[in-house]
Formats: sequence, structure tokens, C-alpha cells
Amino acid sequence: MPLLEIRNLTTGYGDAVVIEDLSLALDENQGLAVLGRNGVGKTTLMLSIMGHAKHMAGAIFWNGQDISATPAYLRSQLGLGWVPQERDIFPSLTVEENLRVAARPGPYGLDKVYRVFPRLQERRRNMGDKLSGGEQQMLAIGRALMTNPRLLLLDEPFEGLAPVIVQELEATLDHLRRHEGFATIIVEQRAEDALRLSDEAAVLDRGRIVEQGPAGHLLQDFDRVKKWIAV
Ligand SMILES: Nc1ncnc2c1ncn2[C@@H]1O[C@H](COP(=O)(O)OP(=O)(O)O)[C@@H](O)[C@H]1O
Ligand SMILES: [Mg+2]
Repeated sequence: MPLLEIRNLTTGYGDAVVIEDLSLALDENQGLAVLGRNGVGKTTLMLSIMGHAKHMAGAIFWNGQDISATPAYLRSQLGLGWVPQERDIFPSLTVEENLRVAARPGPYGLDKVYRVFPRLQERRRNMGDKLSGGEQQMLAIGRALMTNPRLLLLDEPFEGLAPVIVQELEATLDHLRRHEGFATIIVEQRAEDALRLSDEAAVLDRGRIVEQGPAGHLLQDFDRVKKWIAV
């Protein structure tokens, strides 16, 4: 049974359909890259999985359980860890307070998060608004880890970051998936980076999947991806 299975999902906002008749599945420990131009519905797909978009048709299964009608706060309790594009750091809380407010029972507490991101430990008394972009992204991921999820959904985690920080984050995400047992969904403009970090890939255009397959295949045949994205 897949960890996450989406069947013929249609979602949007108000009357507007954004995601249309979309199906995909993700196993435990697997990585999925979601690619596509601006405005094709990548964030909406993530919000739909998290329960923040309007459900119109189809279903989302988590460990075989239909969660289509499950409210967002319960989905995070079930093990869906959301790392939003805006990072949503509390500016007037310290790094450590930002982490503590997210804590849920499980192996990932402050100690383990600080082991993954030593920089956050060094900065633990800094206010959220005194962090660099890279540190904010580490904190956003660290906060998701504090909820002890089984799946991390990352929306453009590398956006606006210096190459050396991107490399560091990529190594961390690779480690989390390969050695710490997290499944990942990575939405990225940097398609090749996302494909390298994933097992499977889906390319979206106007709310539908237009290319889908093993990430390695799409990397080898990158022309298939290129025509759907800005490179
Ligand atoms: N809160 C919202 N209300 C209405 N329409 C929205 C909202 N958020 C996004 N959209 C629309 O949904 C479409 C897909 O947006 P989005 O999922 O953000 O795409 P992407 O993440 O691929 O750039 C766009 O046409 C966008 O204008
Ligand atoms: Mg987006």
C-alpha cells in the first residue's frame, strides 16, 4: 500500500478549478519531484494534500485511509509535514521557540534537529527575523521535523538561496530520505536539482500531469522536461 495515493483529484479555490483529475502515488521513503512553470498548480497540489485547498472531486489516501475530508490540522498530526514556500517563521520568537511550538511526540526533538542543522543550534537564541535566508529555510525544515512527519512536502526550498547553501540543504534532504526514513515531495524551479533528489517525478501543466516517471529517466531525457518548464 502506498504511503500517499491521490486518485483523480480535482481541487481549487472558490469556483476556480486548479488541479484537475490528477493521480499519483508515493511509497514510504520515496522522493517525488513536482515540476512545472509558474502558475501551473504546484503549490495548489501541495495545499490540497495538506487540506488547505477546496476539494472538488477524487480522493487522497494516507496509508490507505481516505483523508479527503480530514481537516488540515489533523493531517499534520497524521504525519504530513509542510514546509511552505514563505517559510512562515515567527519573527518575534527565537529559533528555539519556533522549533518548540511545532513539537509533537516522536524521535525528532530539539537534539535531533540540531544534529541535522548545527547552524540552528548556534543561532538558537536569535530572533526569527534575524536569520539569513538559508537559516530561515533550515528552521522551516527543522520545524516540520519537530512534528515527526513521515512525509515532508517542500515548496521551492532552494528559492533565493546561494549555491553553497543549496548544496548543503540538498545533502541534508538526501540524508533525511535515504537514512532517516522520510518520504519527500519537492516542488522546485531548479528541475535538475529536484530530480537528483527524487526517485519519481511528475511534471504539471495547467493542473494536469503531462510527464511522469522515474526521476532518473527524466534526467537522462531532460528535453522531455524542458519543454514544460522555463530553463
Ligand atoms: N488563494 C488563491 N485563490 C485563487 N486562485 C489562486 C490562489 N492561489 C493560487 N491561485 C491560482 O491557482 C493557479 C495555480 O497557482 P499555484 O498553485 O500557486 O501555481 P505554482 O505553485 O505552480 O506556481 C494560478 O492560476 C493562481 O493564480
Ligand atoms: Mg508555487
